[in-house]
Amino acid sequence: MDSLSTISSVIAALCFIVALAGLAKQDTAQRGNFFGAVGMMIAVAAALVLSLKNSAHSILMTLVLIAPAMGGGAVIGVWRARRVAMTGMPELIAILHSFVGLAAVLIGYNSFVESLGHEPDHYGFHLGEIHLGIFIGAVTFTGSIVAWLKLSGKISGAPLTLPGRNLINLLILIVCAGLLVAFISSASWWALIIMTVLALILGVHLVAAIGGGDMPVVVSMLNSYSGWAAAAAGFMLGNPLLIITGALVGSSGAYLSAIMCQAMNRSFLSVVLGGFGSDTSSSSSTLADPHAQHSEISAAETAELLHDARRVVIAPGYGMAVAQAQYPVAELTRKLRDLGVDVVFAIHPVAGRLPGHMNVLLAEAKVPYDIVLEMDEINDDFPDVDVVLVIGANDTVNPIAEEPGSPIAGMPVLKVWEAHRVIVLKRSMGAGYAGVANPLFSKDNTDMLLGDAKGSVEALCQDLSVSSQLKEKM
Ligand code: TAP
Repeated sequence: MDSLSTISSVIAALCFIVALAGLAKQDTAQRGNFFGAVGMMIAVAAALVLSLKNSAHSILMTLVLIAPAMGGGAVIGVWRARRVAMTGMPELIAILHSFVGLAAVLIGYNSFVESLGHEPDHYGFHLGEIHLGIFIGAVTFTGSIVAWLKLSGKISGAPLTLPGRNLINLLILIVCAGLLVAFISSASWWALIIMTVLALILGVHLVAAIGGGDMPVVVSMLNSYSGWAAAAAGFMLGNPLLIITGALVGSSGAYLSAIMCQAMNRSFLSVVLGGFGSDTSSSSSTLADPHAQHSEISAAETAELLHDARRVVIAPGYGMAVAQAQYPVAELTRKLRDLGVDVVFAIHPVAGRLPGHMNVLLAEAKVPYDIVLEMDEINDDFPDVDVVLVIGANDTVNPIAEEPGSPIAGMPVLKVWEAHRVIVLKRSMGAGYAGVANPLFSKDNTDMLLGDAKGSVEALCQDLSVSSQLKEKM
């Protein structure tokens, strides 16, 4: 049974590595997902076999104990996955991370209770594992809950900037390191409990200090923490597969955080230290002209412009996801390409609410991968573009990011305003996620097509057909 569980662990670990490699590219993502699911099935089966073998109860009794947990988890998981909208994914991911953190805390306490009375070999090392596992788990647990509250709008996204906040974090870390030493040498409950409380506070404080603009990094950072929490749980349980899986999640989450930081031109340390977006000296109201005029355009006029264009770029954002406009957008793209218009998509790395959000939606609507370009691939080409359609994007196309001192200064954005014409599809003149006014809307070459993105794009599709028919008759 041992070798069976070792072999299945190795196969599952390989599946996870292949899954990660597949998920790195859009056209292999589905295959990657499949391997991930297969790996997880093997891992669950291997864990089941291992627990049956190690259980103090009979096989039947162990199955009776495990089945309700697995069945309940599976039912809740399928129910949530079927109900969640793509726009609600970051919140769901955040709350799921908190479960991993809580699991690591509970496993830590359980391991400690089990070890009392019959100290295993290398007891000091085991106690160190327990302490670190609970610490990482507790930080992940409360940090993820605060992230969930922020992402779902249940609490303000503004950063909490307590005086001396970095000193508070540093002090907690130092005290926890001291408690680690005390715990290893005395195996005392008080050291473990005080550390847990401090780690729970640290989790809240770390994420509360991070402002709305940096939330993309927080999501990937907590992803990473949850991986390390799982790896720590793997050490405590002596489960190599959990260690490997946790390390894969931890390191890929850390790498994703680095990519996110790069995309927003922020250093990882400055994100973790928090406070970004709290500078009121340069609020959006002082930077944006409150008397700025905008001009509006109708769907029919926009369709005319698109019909006559040589090159069109579509810059989608969160609004496209909310409106579920990806299907009419794909339809519009097909129609334009049939007319011989060169259409490509410009994807900002943090467009939407989770990494790869726009890519997933466009792939779902069967937009060909080769016309979906990353920001760096398209950003220098805008002067040669006839029309840019900004569909529900705001912060990611905000030229104010180029102004030093603005609340989003330094964040690379899609330079859509360099195109000949820009048409912005949104419902109002309101700000985006970062709460910063957008001077793009009042530029001379920009027109607003106001309304729900889905309705507007459907109208564009209809008007485009009408205008093509008219031109054919002429
Ligand atoms: P946002 O700046 O969030 O702006 C989206 C715009 O869509 C809003 O201004 C809204 O304007 C419009 N909108 C909403 N519903 C709409 C609808 N039904 N039809 C048409 N328009 C609609 O979008 P973005 O440019 O994609 O930028 C993303 C932002 O989210 C960035 O600040 C980023 O840092 C942040 N963020 C990203 C992530 C990740 S990982 N991607 C995670 C957390 C936060 P109206 O209300 O006027 O319609």
